[in-house]
Amino acid sequence: MQTIAIAGRKGGVGKTSLTVALASYCTNLGLKTLVVDLDPQSNAGYCLGVEDLSHSGTAHLLLRQSFLPQQVRDNLWVLTGGIELEGGAIQQLDADELALSLQNIEADVVLFDCPPGQETLERFALMAANQALLCTDSHPQARLGIARLVNYLERRRQTQRHYPRWAIAARIADRRRLADRSLVTDLQADYPSTPVFEIPSDSDLFYATANGIPLLEAAPKARICIALSSIWKWTHE
Ligand SMILES: Nc1ncnc2c1ncn2[C@@H]1O[C@H](COP(=O)(O)OP(=O)(O)OP(=O)(O)O)[C@@H](O)[C@H]1O
Ligand SMILES: [Mg+2]
Repeated sequence: MQTIAIAGRKGGVGKTSLTVALASYCTNLGLKTLVVDLDPQSNAGYCLGVEDLSHSGTAHLLLRQSFLPQQVRDNLWVLTGGIELEGGAIQQLDADELALSLQNIEADVVLFDCPPGQETLERFALMAANQALLCTDSHPQARLGIARLVNYLERRRQTQRHYPRWAIAARIADRRRLADRSLVTDLQADYPSTPVFEIPSDSDLFYATANGIPLLEAAPKARICIALSSIWKWTHE
């Protein structure tokens, strides 16, 4: 089972969009894919067209209550996030609770959509995942968020047996900006041993997520597919 956390401390850097795009890509490959939404905002479920967002699937999984992944297409399920993820009972769980809960899940690929600025919830995903995609754009606060995540993962690598390998997903929002044009090379200079994937701005992805349609169903040749294919290859290296 491939388990991939999509994280980034700053809000709005494209975590959910990348998660649901990758989910659609994996489903299209015929893989049983589950999106685990760790965000109280429940955006991943919305972006994939889950009709009833009131089921707090991920919270129930974490609390070992009965949970119901919502099927949105053949081979594509979502465990919805929701406000229950902010409750005290969840915040007090051990960081490896999600990793342990995964034993009850059958899927080829599990994607964890992390929330912004909620390190407890993010940590569940980083403990459970074998791989992590660290999302940033050119904003200095997003870059700072990545630096903190890399620090955390480096420490894990030095001190613990299980840690995810990681890569950076760099969203280029506007090529007219110098900071966006140089983002990939700047990140490669800062993190020479970390793969950096360029995530282009893609109006098909915007349309698909806004309308709750899996990306490849809305646009089989979406621009972002080249990046998705490179990321998918990296997960198998
Ligand atoms: N590659 C992309 N192409 C076009 N639009 C994008 C892309 N990535 C993100 N967006 C748009 O940017 C906004 C923020 O994206 P998204 O919700 O994926 O970020 P996020 O990091 O998950 O945010 P949050 O921290 O609130 O969970 C959305 O309006 C989304 O449609
Ligand atoms: Mg999000």
